[in-house]
Amino acid sequence: MTSRTTIHMAGLALAAGIGLLLPGAARAQGDLVVYCTVQEEWCRAMVTAFEKKTGIKVAMTRKSSGELYAQIKAEAANPKGDIWWGGTGDPHLQAAEEGLSLEYTSPMNKDLHPWAIKQWEQSKKRTIGVYAGALGYGYNTKQIAEKKIAEPKCWSDLLDPKLKDEVQVADPNSSGTSYTMLATMVQLLGEDKGFDYMKKLHKNVNQYTKSGAAPAKAVSLGESAVGITFQHDMVTFIVQGAPMKVVAPCEGTGYEIGSMTLIKGAKNLENAKKWYDWALTPEAQELGAGAKAYQVPSNKNSKTPPEAPDFAKIKFIDYDFAKYGSSAERTRLLAKWDAEVKNLPK
Ligand code: G6P
Repeated sequence: MTSRTTIHMAGLALAAGIGLLLPGAARAQGDLVVYCTVQEEWCRAMVTAFEKKTGIKVAMTRKSSGELYAQIKAEAANPKGDIWWGGTGDPHLQAAEEGLSLEYTSPMNKDLHPWAIKQWEQSKKRTIGVYAGALGYGYNTKQIAEKKIAEPKCWSDLLDPKLKDEVQVADPNSSGTSYTMLATMVQLLGEDKGFDYMKKLHKNVNQYTKSGAAPAKAVSLGESAVGITFQHDMVTFIVQGAPMKVVAPCEGTGYEIGSMTLIKGAKNLENAKKWYDWALTPEAQELGAGAKAYQVPSNKNSKTPPEAPDFAKIKFIDYDFAKYGSSAERTRLLAKWDAEVKNLPK
């Protein structure tokens, strides 16, 4: 080892030591902690592009919507995250109502679609739409043919006893996708019939996964014949050649407004605002398609990827975000699902 290297290393050790002594805020300067709830590949593409553009170092954690909501709540006395980017809007709205997030008005608001701004208005400026996605399901065409089942088109088709242990969907406690499905069934069929549907579906469910998009991968690999996810999550595998089809259910379906929230008590608030403004630009939003994430972006000037499911052809319900994103309703529905559906014998 040369003396120069020794000196350099001693310098590094000293710098690290000083770093340990500095208070959290000073140590964190120049950094940003992002909680990310889209697919890992898109999270990583966003981090790389943001670091390159701003020189700000990002620490990113990827978790599902319900998990990150719970984490932010648990950390409220000593917040560790600065910004929560992506994931279904309902838990972002719940966080806003519970005072876990900060008000912010971005200069980018003027360029956003009305549905993205509605989310911001409803949350009293505490969360905003970054993308939209339609709920649906996908199936493995080879497996459906082998089982001699007609190609499913409706939600009701998923109750066919021939699909026993062949449907995969996430747990609505951890997954925003699955909570969107639960809330969609309640809105589409009424609460009693909606829960009846979930109980009957339970007989066909092979696994409640933690993450919402996991069933799409299982369908692509032939591990499950059917998976309930956002439609664009199925498209991710279809464009890679998997033998799959995506379904916009005939009865109508719900949708998500993927959202973004500044965390109250953020230690790197200025950097978090930089991420917030940038994440609403076409430059950032168009990174999704490169990572095979085919949501509809919230900036009117962002290109919607041609692979994105065509919203004009999908029958949507008038999803009530104010109600189903409220703390009382989300908590109540999840507790009811736990009590009445999750552990039912098959
Ligand atoms: C996938 C989808 C996103 C969605 C997210 C929700 O990443 O592509 O559109 O917001 O899942 O994740 P979760 O695991 O909470 O269902």
